[in-house]
Amino acid sequence: MSYEQEREIIHVTGKTGMGKTRWSRAFLKSQSRVIVMDTMLEHDGILFEDLGDMIDHLMRYPTFRVRTEFIDDFPMLCSIAFATGRCWLIVEETQRVLPASRKELPASFLDLIYRGRHKRVSLLMISQRPSTIHIAARSQWTRIITFNQTEPADIDWIQDTSGFKVDPATLAPSWYFEITPTVVEKKLLDDARKGHETIAARSETPQPEREEKEE
Ligand SMILES: Nc1ncnc2c1ncn2[C@@H]1O[C@H](COP(=O)(O)OP(=O)(O)OP(=O)(O)O)[C@@H](O)[C@H]1O
Ligand SMILES: [Mg+2]
Repeated sequence: MSYEQEREIIHVTGKTGMGKTRWSRAFLKSQSRVIVMDTMLEHDGILFEDLGDMIDHLMRYPTFRVRTEFIDDFPMLCSIAFATGRCWLIVEETQRVLPASRKELPASFLDLIYRGRHKRVSLLMISQRPSTIHIAARSQWTRIITFNQTEPADIDWIQDTSGFKVDPATLAPSWYFEITPTVVEKKLLDDARKGHETIAARSETPQPEREEKEE
């Protein structure tokens, strides 16, 4: 990446079962301050029923991995992330958590989107269809991870906002495009890649040239 990034806003999108949660779990392994709006209970971290207890935990520990499953907690969770600073807020099933485009977003969430840079709060939002996510939540993206999707409204948004004519409808499961303002790359999830290598060894199909080797 050619510029210093102060924080990220990542959207992970694609049809059900394509690999969004797997990508997110793998990505978060390297992050040390993580707060998750975990509606489906699919992520790691201490699950809090009481946000007061979560705040106590965040004040006590410099590194943390915490989560809540209650959607009603979301506005408060945004305030907690903003006050904590230098952390990731993960939103699973974003279309269930955020109101649709015609309604108003919680003020604490808008603070994160528009002012979170100053507090170094990064956002990771996961959804099946980006076009169903409130436009304010999409507008400030720094990275888009798209798995297979076929709805024109979703593909159009990705192409229009990024300026790259990628076609997510061509992606097989576990494959994704990683889009930043300057580059788009096609990638395979690491956990799926292991499986692919095993199959290639048994059938002795030629290995594709590995780009990682150039140094
Ligand atoms: N190592 C692997 N290689 C290939 N596929 C895998 C592997 N591990 C799990 N899967 C498949 O990945 C799918 C689940 O991926 P994931 O949970 O990331 O989906 P998702 O995009 O988050 O979907 P949803 O929108 O329904 O939450 C399952 O179909 C599972 O069979
Ligand atoms: Mg998922």
